Amino acid sequence: MNDKVTDTIRYVGVDDTDLRLFENQYPVEKGISYNSYIVEGSDSIALFDTVDNRRLDQWNELVDGALSGRQPDYLIVLHMEPDHSAGIARTLKKYPQMKVVASQMALKMLPQFFEGIDLEGRTVAVKEGSQIDLGGRTLTFHTASMVHWPEVIVAYDDKERVLFSADAFGRFGSLCYGEESWADEARRYYTNIVGKYGPQVRNLLAKFDGVKVDIIAPLHGPVLRGDLSEYLRLYRLWSGYEPELPDGVLVAYASVYGGTQEAALAVADIIRQRGDREVAVIDLCRQDVSEAVAQAFRMGRMVLASVTYDASVFPAMQAFIHHIASKGLCRRKVALLENGTWAPIAAKVMATMLGEMKQMEIVGQPVTIRSRMHSTDMPALKALADAVCA
Ligand code: FEO
Repeated sequence: MNDKVTDTIRYVGVDDTDLRLFENQYPVEKGISYNSYIVEGSDSIALFDTVDNRRLDQWNELVDGALSGRQPDYLIVLHMEPDHSAGIARTLKKYPQMKVVASQMALKMLPQFFEGIDLEGRTVAVKEGSQIDLGGRTLTFHTASMVHWPEVIVAYDDKERVLFSADAFGRFGSLCYGEESWADEARRYYTNIVGKYGPQVRNLLAKFDGVKVDIIAPLHGPVLRGDLSEYLRLYRLWSGYEPELPDGVLVAYASVYGGTQEAALAVADIIRQRGDREVAVIDLCRQDVSEAVAQAFRMGRMVLASVTYDASVFPAMQAFIHHIASKGLCRRKVALLENGTWAPIAAKVMATMLGEMKQMEIVGQPVTIRSRMHSTDMPALKALADAVCA
């Protein structure tokens, strides 16, 4: 990553390449970056956010190098989650003239994370529309509650039209791997971490309607610049729970001995043979649920196939439906397939869970296979494929 965002904005973030689970739950094969920026005005210097404790020493060295003996006037805290805030107390001690700029709620959180922290005379509370003049450039702050914690703020720099967007527009993956496609890992990040808060994300996007933004500087992933319309388009879709591919189908299955898998893959093949839409297949027992959640947001339709287990649905399927429900996914067409050797009931359980979500439409007749897929099941599986595609 080139550390020069602009002539007067420097990237001082760090990669965490050997992190395995972000938030102790999301697999990150290529780690993640904790972004941090130094913004220079003619009068003052602002440092945007610290980083996770895992990379604090490295970050300190980068900041020292970038400041070359100068002191920052402000530490701007966009977000108090520890992946960004771990260095606040240490940085306050290091720079005795520096003040912390944050929302009132973030300032209240500080002593919770840093017992005994002395903030006397060291804070600037900002709210919607607050401004700080750095000399030749003004930072304007906007609240971004629940994107993705309640205390979050974002900042807009009028000089170079940069939006410091906190977690919004972030992406999994360390930056040292170079330019990679943004959408896949941004989708997985957004849908799993911020997905529940679509209305709040929409509120934030609305604050920048008509505002010229040339650069988006998030707290994870690459700095976005150039034509930003595709990033904004995807954020509008995701935050509105609108599928990217309204006709696309996610086939997600949970199978014990392969019988349910065989039937689910047969349905996927039938749909693929139509040749008119994209099909994503997820084995819920082998692939991480965060991938399935991301695909459920991406596609307009789903086939859910589960074996019956403990007179209910298989745990991996139960977890998946729980996840999409807790993220507020809605308005999807769903076809159901169950397996049971003596008392199949998975489809009924799935239907009940989906019925508690908003506008999840169960299409076609749920299909039951007994132990394994039989040739006699094919007409019903074709009808299921037709129903989900209709
Ligand atoms: Fe990257 Fe919500 O913290």
